[in-house]
Amino acid sequence: MLVHGPGALKGLPFPVGYQTSLGRATTGSAENQIRTLPDGSVDLIFTSPPFALQRGKSYGNMDQGEWVEWLASFGSEFKRVLKPNGSLVLDLGGAYQKGLPIRSLANFRLLLRFCDDHGMHLAEDFYWFNPAKLPSPIEWVNKRKIRVKDAVNHLWWLSPSTAPKADVRKVLTPYSDRMKRLLAKPDEFFSPKTRPSGHAVARGFEKDNGGSIPPNLLQFSNTESNTPYLRRCKTAHITPHPARFPEGLPDFFIRFLTDPDDLVLDPFSGSNTTGSVAEKLGRRWLAFDTMEEYVISSSLRFENDAPDEEMARFAHGLYNKRAQRSAA
Ligand SMILES: C[S@@+](CC[C@H](N)C(=O)[O-])C[C@H]1O[C@@H](n2cnc3c(N)ncnc32)[C@H](O)[C@@H]1O
Repeated sequence: MLVHGPGALKGLPFPVGYQTSLGRATTGSAENQIRTLPDGSVDLIFTSPPFALQRGKSYGNMDQGEWVEWLASFGSEFKRVLKPNGSLVLDLGGAYQKGLPIRSLANFRLLLRFCDDHGMHLAEDFYWFNPAKLPSPIEWVNKRKIRVKDAVNHLWWLSPSTAPKADVRKVLTPYSDRMKRLLAKPDEFFSPKTRPSGHAVARGFEKDNGGSIPPNLLQFSNTESNTPYLRRCKTAHITPHPARFPEGLPDFFIRFLTDPDDLVLDPFSGSNTTGSVAEKLGRRWLAFDTMEEYVISSSLRFENDAPDEEMARFAHGLYNKRAQRSAA
């Protein structure tokens, strides 16, 4: 029996998940699910895999060395399903080595494995700065005061190609007030300068390109509150996913690296932030997660115009299907 959401959202009979006109979220391991995808079908894999943490999150974590091996083992499948000019963007939190004030090299080892073993290219390294991050680890930062707050994640942007599809014009940031004034009255702001070589600095900077080129340091606070997802989780008595990233992160890379109707995959989708952003941007999407409860509750990110109670009922319908299945 299919359970229908308020609009286009439909429950899938097995394995438990749901679909919209643009995408599908499925319960299952990335290892198994990715094998069902055809070669060269995905434009962007955007994902935040379970981190190599020392303190386990509720969905479980592994030792840093095992983690590198495990994630590197996805290299050939990621490359197979990507289009030749497609992109893989991995969001990776940093960590300290156990009991020591020195950093783990796991993220760098993983990057080298993808490039050396699977022929991927590092198009650019990005850094996500989360100003709202709490100081940690307590021992080195708060107690002994010998390390500063770790507030950036690595984002490795990789591709099978040396020239992945990308267009910075889709992610321009608003001009500063100073730049706006300069664009309005260039002659008042321009004072010709001569370089030590004797060459004059050419004009041309006063051209309005619609915004500034963003840097590879992206700033987003991870302080979501009172969103439809959180409100509906509360209504449905469901604990929200513990490791969500902010919508701004997938929004930036999906706009930068894909076009409408392209296919975006998040193989470790959690609360499906990636799929819901892809849906808003008119991209097709696929989401996998091993935890049924995460897949089910991620449906609450969709149909933002629908009443919260109705969406909570939809999620409960999926939970019931799950219960019936495990009872059978
Ligand atoms: C860091 S969370 C992703 C959070 C997500 N970006 C969000 O915004 O909600 C990683 C997810 O990977 C899932 N996971 C762990 N191992 C997996 C596997 N082998 N296949 C698929 N999903 C897996 C976990 O259940 C967890 O929800």
